[in-house]
Amino acid sequence: MKPLQFEGRWILVTGASSGLGKEMATQLASRYKANLILVARRKEALEQLKGQLQQAYGVQVELLPADLGEESEILRVADTVIQRGDLYGAILNAGITYFGPHVELSDLEFRRLIQVNLIGVSLLTSHLVKYFEPSGKEAGIMLVSSMAGFMPTPYQSVYSGTKAYLIQFANALQLELKNKALSLTVFEPGGIATEMTSGENFSALRSWLMPVDQVASIALRAFRARKYNAIPGFINQVGYVLSRIMPRKFMVGQLAKTYGKALEFQRKPGA
Ligand SMILES: NC(=O)c1ccc[n+]([C@@H]2O[C@H](COP(=O)([O-])OP(=O)(O)OC[C@H]3O[C@@H](n4cnc5c(N)ncnc54)[C@H](OP(=O)(O)O)[C@@H]3O)[C@@H](O)[C@H]2O)c1
Repeated sequence: MKPLQFEGRWILVTGASSGLGKEMATQLASRYKANLILVARRKEALEQLKGQLQQAYGVQVELLPADLGEESEILRVADTVIQRGDLYGAILNAGITYFGPHVELSDLEFRRLIQVNLIGVSLLTSHLVKYFEPSGKEAGIMLVSSMAGFMPTPYQSVYSGTKAYLIQFANALQLELKNKALSLTVFEPGGIATEMTSGENFSALRSWLMPVDQVASIALRAFRARKYNAIPGFINQVGYVLSRIMPRKFMVGQLAKTYGKALEFQRKPGA
C-alpha cells in the first residue's frame, strides 16, 4: 500500500483545540502542507489556530466546532465532511479521561467518557468507512487510542475500557475492508504532556510523560505509512511486549500500586 500523501489534501482532525490534536494539526500544516478541517468545542481556540496555520504555512483551514459527546453533533460532523466530497483523511483524536477512584466517578462523567471516547470515535469511523469503502478512494483514518487500551489501567478503568474497544474495533474493521486504498490506523500513546495530564492527580507521574511534539510527529509518520497499530517511544514499546508476556494480574497490580500512590501523594495535605 503506498503511503498517504497529505499535501493539498483535506484532513479532519478532532480534538484540535489543545494537546495532541492541536500539535498534529500544526505539523500537518507545517511539514506536510495539508488543508485542515478542525473539530473541538472551544471555538476561540480553533479560530486562533486557524489564523496561525493559514498565516504561517499558507494552507486552508476550516472549522467545525462540535460537541462529540452528543450523537446529533457526531452525525453532523460526519455528514458535513462526507458531503464535501474531497475528504482524504481523518484523525479521530478527541478524548477525555477521569483519573481517580472509580467509586468517585459520577454517572454523568461515566456517560461522557463513553460518549466522547467510544461512541464519538467509533460512530464517526463507521460513517467514514461507509463513505470511503464503496468509493474506492485513497484515504486514511487514524483513531487515537492509548496504551491504556492494551494495559488495563486502575483508577482509569472506564477510560481504559473505551480505549481497548477502539483497538479491537479498528483492528477488526481494517481487515474487512475491500477498498485496498483505505487504511485504518490505531495510535496507542503512553503518557503525553498535554492539558489532559496537567491536573494535580498526574503530578507524581509527570516524569513519565513524552513531549507532545515528539508524539505528534510519530503519530503522523504512522498514519502516513498506514500502520495497523503504532506505539510511540521505546519504553512504551517495551511495556507493550511485557504486557503480552507477563501475568496480567501482576502487571496490572504494579500499575495499581504506582497510580494509587500518585493519587495518595496528591491528596496528602501540603503535597
Ligand atoms: N495525554 C495523555 O497522556 C494521553 C495518553 C494516551 C492517549 N491520549 C489520547 O490522546 C487524545 C488527545 O488527548 P490530549 O492528551 O491531547 O488531551 P487534551 O489536551 O485534553 O485534548 C483533548 C481534545 O479533545 C477535545 N474534546 C474533548 N471533549 C470533546 C467533546 N465533547 N467534543 C469535541 N471535542 C472534545 C478537546 O477540545 P475541547 O475541550 O475544545 O472540546 C481537546 O481538543 C485523547 O484521545 C487521549 O485519550 C492521551
